[in-house]
Amino acid sequence: MNMYDLINKKKNKEELSKEEINYIIEGYTKDEIPDYQMSAFLMAVCLNKMTQEETANFTLAMASSGDILDLSAIKGVKVDKHSTGGVGDKTSLILSPMVASLGVPVAKMSGRGLGHTGGTIDKLESFPGFSTSLTTEQFIKNVNDIKLAIVGQTANLAPADKKIYALRDVTATVDNISLIASSIMSKKLASGSDVIVLDVKTGSGAFMKNYEDSLALAKEMVQIGTLAGKTTYAVITDMNQPLGRAVGNAIEVKEVIETLSGKGPEDLLEVSLNLASYMLLGSGKVITVKEARQLLEKTIENKTALDKFAKFIASQGGDSEFVYHPELLKMGSICYDVKSPGDGYVQKIRTDEIGMASSLLGGGRVTKDSKIDLSVGIYIHKKLGDKVSKNEPLATIYANDDKKRKEAKKRIINAYSIGRDKPLIPPYIYSIVTKDKVVHL
Ligand code: URA
Repeated sequence: MNMYDLINKKKNKEELSKEEINYIIEGYTKDEIPDYQMSAFLMAVCLNKMTQEETANFTLAMASSGDILDLSAIKGVKVDKHSTGGVGDKTSLILSPMVASLGVPVAKMSGRGLGHTGGTIDKLESFPGFSTSLTTEQFIKNVNDIKLAIVGQTANLAPADKKIYALRDVTATVDNISLIASSIMSKKLASGSDVIVLDVKTGSGAFMKNYEDSLALAKEMVQIGTLAGKTTYAVITDMNQPLGRAVGNAIEVKEVIETLSGKGPEDLLEVSLNLASYMLLGSGKVITVKEARQLLEKTIENKTALDKFAKFIASQGGDSEFVYHPELLKMGSICYDVKSPGDGYVQKIRTDEIGMASSLLGGGRVTKDSKIDLSVGIYIHKKLGDKVSKNEPLATIYANDDKKRKEAKKRIINAYSIGRDKPLIPPYIYSIVTKDKVVHL
């Protein structure tokens, strides 16, 4: 067997066997297959797709490329949540302390930014001193002590995915159902939680731009999770505009704190409450979504979720003062309003372009080794259906480099379509996928 033949096979739309997939994953993990051959293979997958069987084999090969975490020392049913990736998507940082403050253990493994989308681990690093690389013992201890820990992918947890993820990020090979499903589910299978809630994004800022593809992705992931014995739900949520108003890293953390303080944007709160409800349902803490929602809403009202967030930041070495004084979070030194070129309603936002604008400012990675600038970002003033007058700010850019600021401005202007008629506003949530049904909302 050799990699050249396997790339050629996928180029010619042939199906790969389990042995062939294992050969690719093992070889790449051990550095025996170079990046350029893996990139060519990933591009062939994006163009010619993988079958369900290939996807399942790809997932299992990546999950077993490293350690499988044993979380049995954590008391209770452990829940985790993962998003397929969005712009302004900061729900993990809101729902995790909400759920944990109700006594349900959240043992969460998160990722870094990918393509035009942001990542929870990068956002958390906005807190000085915060560490997402805990030992397994520390991870378990934190979840037992305060019911919440969030870690990055350790070197030996699905290491094949870790390498492939970084390569996909810079080779335009992210937006493929099989690659996304196997990337997410390999980590979830290796990281030991009992319940997995998946936030499958759909729309212009998601990797899946249309509902049918998002549904196919959701079904594929729920099937893989169920076969592996995990309670798995997928919630299909809208990504035709940034979630909330903040896009970046530190700026998103500020919005998280506002939301946990009861002053967050409605769409962000609604999506967070919904996902958190399924985490509670899966854990057995409640038997209806309605009951879950009532409990979760209280955690915001009585500030237990905010206090849990502060405890969590401190437990991983961060300065919890920042949670009560978010103005301490550093923002880019250049603050610039992007003005509307005309009058009308916001009819469309090419949300991936907003994500790219944030990335270009320095908020995301351009190459595998880029260091990101946590202080840059974008604040969205005008969302879908909003009325806007010529020269009114559509968004504010926070930057540290004027050349990058100009580039981001161009992207933001191009991302907005302003027209005469008020558009239909998409729902926040489309449907819920469980092992036996799809419930359309
Ligand atoms: N999140 C992941 O972990 N992997 C993907 O491919 C997309 C989102």
